[in-house]
Amino acid sequence: VFEHVVRAPEDPILGVTVAYNKDTSPLKLNLGVGAYRTEEGKPLVLNVVRRAEQMLVNNSSRVKEYLPIVGLADFNKLSAKLILGADSPAIQENRVTTVQCLSGTGSLRVGGEFLARHYHQRTIYIPQPTWGNHPKVFTLAGLSVKTFRYYDPVTRGLDFQGLLEDLGSAPSGEIVLLHACAHNPTGVDPTPQQWEQIRQLMRSKALLPFFDSAYQGFASGNLDADAHSVRLFVADGGECLVAQSYAKNMGLYGERVGALSIVCKSADVASRVESQLKLVIRPMYSNPPIHGASIVATILKDRNMYQEWTIELKAMADRIINMRQQLFDALRSRGTPGDWSHIIKQIGMFTFTGLNSEQVAFMRKEYHIYMTSDGRISMAGLSSRTVPHLADAIHAAVTR
Ligand code: LMR
Repeated sequence: VFEHVVRAPEDPILGVTVAYNKDTSPLKLNLGVGAYRTEEGKPLVLNVVRRAEQMLVNNSSRVKEYLPIVGLADFNKLSAKLILGADSPAIQENRVTTVQCLSGTGSLRVGGEFLARHYHQRTIYIPQPTWGNHPKVFTLAGLSVKTFRYYDPVTRGLDFQGLLEDLGSAPSGEIVLLHACAHNPTGVDPTPQQWEQIRQLMRSKALLPFFDSAYQGFASGNLDADAHSVRLFVADGGECLVAQSYAKNMGLYGERVGALSIVCKSADVASRVESQLKLVIRPMYSNPPIHGASIVATILKDRNMYQEWTIELKAMADRIINMRQQLFDALRSRGTPGDWSHIIKQIGMFTFTGLNSEQVAFMRKEYHIYMTSDGRISMAGLSSRTVPHLADAIHAAVTR
């Protein structure tokens, strides 16, 4: 009965890892998926995470009962505080509902389904380009997807004029997906002044912001600074949605731990919204897993552990910045044609190199370097040892 099923293509991002795993060359280098690696090229479990896990294991009173549909209460409260700020008026006024979800993707999906059922508009505008999973998540959630201009390939920076024009001509009330910081895949963020202009435009047209915050702490190394865009929109008293992921900033990738917060106009609305979120979640996966959320809650509620986390997070962010400089210097010293200053200007985990899909294919075939076909490289996958190999490959790709 399944003979008619055609083979689906691999995922454009996770499929890069599948191809990489099959490569037997000792030179191979995976710069596809956004996952942090150490200078030795190894995945990193933060010390503070190990410590939290140890505490959880040693606590014999812990049980493995189901969590509530909305997840771990402490985790939800602390996650809202982390992104909105401890002194957020929305939190103080009890008008935020936060539910634990399956990392960033799960939070986007639950938020998308809630909007498709209960919001008066059905279209979400996503930046062009954006994370490849965004359009799929929102389409399957029941929304229509349109794009707004975001990236200018000529300047390799923000197409701010295009962004304002496109959001300015979107019908009033539509949903707009915004990357809270460290835009994926471009590494290009609006400045604080530009964020303020975006806020004014969106509020004047009643456009509903849906933030994807997957890299808090990874853009600047500072958790509060990286929450600036979200807090700006919350400070004006209006509504918004925020999807948070702890995959990158706590290195909890496989634990699938994240949160969806919906900022409402009143406490009463927030509690009704939460009751409906439960109806989205229960038939989808019943309730979320307990382990990752317990790790996050343990760290966020302990002053010392929180401090330790910020130090480890900053070290990851700094190593990535250092990789940017090393790659830029390596290309300059090779005299590689082109202006590569965007490597040091772009922020977060990724560099949007400007390499085209043929050049990417060439680098995979000849140099065993793996990246997404749009030319995005995960700077977090690089090390001082592998920078020369990547620079040689880029040089060869652009001069062939
Ligand atoms: C990425 O963009 O590489 C990450 O967000 C991982 C993923 O799930 O795609």
